[in-house]
Amino acid sequence: MEPSVMESDKSLLEIVEEMRRDIEAAGLGSEQEAEAFRVRYLGQKNGLVTNLFKRIREVPPETRREAGQRLNALKKLAETRLDDARTQLRQDQSQDRAAIDLTLPGRRPSPPGSTHPLTTTLNDIVRIFERLGFVVAEGPEIEDDWHNFTALNFPPDHPARDMQDTLFIEASDGGEGGIMLRTHTSPVQIRAMHAGDPPFRLIAPGRVYRNESITYKSYCLFHQVEGLVVDEGVTMADLKHVLFTFARTFFGDDVKLRFRPSFFPFTEPSAELDIWWPLPDHPDGGRWMEILGSGMVDPNVLEAVGIDSERYTGYAFGMGVERPAMLRYNIDDIRILYENDVRFLEQF
Ligand code: DAH
Repeated sequence: MEPSVMESDKSLLEIVEEMRRDIEAAGLGSEQEAEAFRVRYLGQKNGLVTNLFKRIREVPPETRREAGQRLNALKKLAETRLDDARTQLRQDQSQDRAAIDLTLPGRRPSPPGSTHPLTTTLNDIVRIFERLGFVVAEGPEIEDDWHNFTALNFPPDHPARDMQDTLFIEASDGGEGGIMLRTHTSPVQIRAMHAGDPPFRLIAPGRVYRNESITYKSYCLFHQVEGLVVDEGVTMADLKHVLFTFARTFFGDDVKLRFRPSFFPFTEPSAELDIWWPLPDHPDGGRWMEILGSGMVDPNVLEAVGIDSERYTGYAFGMGVERPAMLRYNIDDIRILYENDVRFLEQF
């Protein structure tokens, strides 16, 4: 009778038998467990079953065939258990996903976005001037003293240069100098004129910043639209015509307007435009509200950017965007424009 494997190599077969029981009992309830099982028994490098195959040489040749068959069966068992476990795990997973609770309320689609009232107002203003032949120019929000103040004919001791009004990034060493958040869009006039030659007919919309205390009527940042026209023979009548055309287009044909003398360092003469705003509860039935500053470009400004002020004249204007937006939409507190409260934004 041929000697059986049992007798000739008990230890290997004992191991096989023990491992068979372990493999049958192994818990394979999760992908982590399945992977640990694969590495433990079938891993290429140090898998327990894989290693047993390396010991087949120790088995005497007569019983080697039987030992090989036993090992192959063990390997097959481990592979089958692993395959079955993984198939089951995949099934469980897709069942989880398919488990839709039909009694749940439907999900509301998120509401479509809309344009912020400030953006709408700014775009409307820009469009009116574009129809009057103006082109849009831009400048940086971080400015230097020369563009923001000096070239605009601000004297070195002008109060606007003070820390109280201007948000400095690099302080000035008294008077001129320093880097700041622009306090108005007027420096874009300087940049445009410096970079090109007359004629100019541009508007510059953008953000400006001031070191203001924050209240219902003032904020540390707001928006302006700047305008500049420079050519031969430009007069104050041209300025007044353009501003009145703008105001009537924006506020309505029957708006009451007042063109009132004022002062700005960069214009001479200067004027402000007021509109009459009817208020039923007001003792006077309404009140004048300033909506923009303007004037004829001061010859000092033209000379600062190398334009011959004997040959060329120009006008400029600058208006805030927040006030017209607040008038138009009946908003009584500027801060609400910057809080991004959806209950406010949803109304637009
Ligand atoms: N820069 C001025 C301000 O911030 C507004 C302004 C006034 C702009 C008169 C102009 C101008 O261009 O001519 O208050």
